[in-house]
Amino acid sequence: MTVTLVPPPAPQPPAVAGPLDVLGVPGQVNLDYAATAPCARAAADAVAELLPWYASVHRGAGALSRRCTLAYERARQTVGDFLGARAGDHVVFTRNTTDALNLLARALPAGTTVVTFGGEHHANLLPWPRGSVRLPVPGDPAGAVRALDAALGELRRPDAAGHRPTRPGAGHGPPVLVAVTAASNVTGERWPVAELARVARRHGARIAVDAAQLAPHAPVDVADLDVDYLALSGHKLYAPFGAGVLVGRADWLDAAPPYLAGGGATSHVGAATHDVRWATGPARHEAGTPNLLGAVALAAVCAALADADRVALHDAEQALLTRLREGVAALPHVVELRTFGPAVPRVGIVSFVVAGRDSAQVAAELAATYDIGVRDGLFCAHPLARRLLDEAAARSGRRDLPPTALRASIGLGSTTGHVDRLLAALAALA
Ligand SMILES: Cc1ncc(COP(=O)(O)O)c(C=O)c1O
Repeated sequence: MTVTLVPPPAPQPPAVAGPLDVLGVPGQVNLDYAATAPCARAAADAVAELLPWYASVHRGAGALSRRCTLAYERARQTVGDFLGARAGDHVVFTRNTTDALNLLARALPAGTTVVTFGGEHHANLLPWPRGSVRLPVPGDPAGAVRALDAALGELRRPDAAGHRPTRPGAGHGPPVLVAVTAASNVTGERWPVAELARVARRHGARIAVDAAQLAPHAPVDVADLDVDYLALSGHKLYAPFGAGVLVGRADWLDAAPPYLAGGGATSHVGAATHDVRWATGPARHEAGTPNLLGAVALAAVCAALADADRVALHDAEQALLTRLREGVAALPHVVELRTFGPAVPRVGIVSFVVAGRDSAQVAAELAATYDIGVRDGLFCAHPLARRLLDEAAARSGRRDLPPTALRASIGLGSTTGHVDRLLAALAALA
């Protein structure tokens, strides 16, 4: 097969300069930001600056230790500020979003009912306790709001004495937590989080937001959205692996058993086996020596993004996304996956299938022949991805769509050259 690439576009200046430049390998076209975004200069610099001071955190009196402790707590403050944490919220460092949501699941008061949608990433489907309610994937954002309203209305019916809960997490009957993504990792479509939060409030439920995919692309603020908890991963936010965060209301977190039992999570340990008083505050759930470099790197990216012109970054990304989606739509053998209509707001993620071609083979060919990295599979959102593959087959009328999909995702440092290279490669696959 002869493959003809369109002439490469003229080299372009990076979309942004300075701390939000991302590292990478020349020649390699990374279109897999939704899995793990490249490391931002701000994160790399923060790590390099701290490395000579490498020492214990919260565990030493030496100058190095004290500096590391300060850096860790400053990172907590910076990340909390970036996410709009309210006075009294806890900012708990975790390993990633999965860890953060599992921590929240372990901190739920007994009998809490969790309500999710079937379109969630596994990290926001699987940690929740038995008895959780999974609502069908709605056809549009307004449908999500209506479905949640109806479901919470059922769950929060007045008790036998006619009492209704009146404030979040309080009132009669066990608590209810709504857990929803802010942007889908499969389609990039944004979910109506603020509206869902209003519905949750009205029914006396709490709401947790999985911001793993929205935070890298748009500001997220727990106070503005009026949500109770928010989780994200550093490695999707241009920081290295191994640091994430759970931000949110202190009461459930302080009342729950520690996520991990061990050093740093206690305020008193007596001689008797069970003579332990657990700390309150973030320390309660951060037992063991923390990931200082991860937290500091994540905070450095948060600070750089807070200083950046987010509107300009968003506009640049949206222009690229439109180019990518229009290019995909113009390829007759490529079908995009989507949950909602084609025009809902979305972040820089596009999933699609190449008719008649196995997605894993296409991904391998894109890598081997074109130096393009994309993701293939069902994206740790199996219920949603399978449903969207069926929907894509019905919409396109094609019977030769493969059982798994491909995903291209962009962000800081992505260029029209990257997008055009993928489109040219997909065209050549016809
Ligand atoms: C929407 C969403 N939530 C949660 C996760 C889990 O993130 P992590 O693997 O960093 O825990 C992902 C990862 O792809 C995601 O896209």
